[in-house]
Amino acid sequence: MDMAPRKLAAGNWKMNGSLAALAEIDSLLGGDEPDCEVLICPPATLIHPMVARIAGGWIAVGGQDCHARDSGAHTGDVSAPQLVDVGADYVIVGHSERRTDHAEDDASVAAKAVAAHEAGLTSVICVGETEAQRDGDQTLKVIARQLAGSVPDCATADNTVIAYEPVWAIGTGRTPTTEQIAEVHAAMRQALVTRFGDGDAFRLLYGGSVKPGNAAEIFAIPHVDGALVGGASLMAADFGPIISALNAAD
Ligand code: 13P
Repeated sequence: MDMAPRKLAAGNWKMNGSLAALAEIDSLLGGDEPDCEVLICPPATLIHPMVARIAGGWIAVGGQDCHARDSGAHTGDVSAPQLVDVGADYVIVGHSERRTDHAEDDASVAAKAVAAHEAGLTSVICVGETEAQRDGDQTLKVIARQLAGSVPDCATADNTVIAYEPVWAIGTGRTPTTEQIAEVHAAMRQALVTRFGDGDAFRLLYGGSVKPGNAAEIFAIPHVDGALVGGASLMAADFGPIISALNAAD
């Protein structure tokens, strides 16, 4: 790939939002179409209505998780082909809340990513250290282990996005220093280049308390190709300026 990867502003609505929240989509679409790519991953109940509301506009829609199997007796789960069926293009896998709440390990995350790729989805694979791991100087080791175990061999820059989300920065209003983010992103880039022929083209997102007020500073960090945004993606008044900041970044 001779072009820089297209930057990605991704919103993760988590377990928030009802049909009324789709008005936020109207607000975003009312602005100018950015050069960067924009993705929203709403709860499963809103994927189809959101796709219908966007009606071919410039926002892509994704799931927040998928099962490793295509169908079967797995009450409460959603499969990758089912996400495709209702118009999703992406799926988040391995979010720290899934790893914690549902005891997902690296192998199950990798299996979900394989299922996503086979269905034609782009996976957003999440990694990140806990506060105790950072305090114990284990961050780079943990990230390397999670990347090795969670990113499957079939990953390419076209079907996979990596999101670095320090667990202690999610929903806390705390963010790593720019030096800390730069260190992890450079290490992730190096690991991907070592393992994959197109490792330099994978998009690397930062996630964890990204807000309109800190977005520009984060997007200026080398190897940060966008953000995975939780709370600040729920309202167009917050997510819109984050998209603009990414669009304005070099
Ligand atoms: P916050 O932006 O709310 O910290 O959430 C980050 C996140 O977990 C996105 O997946």
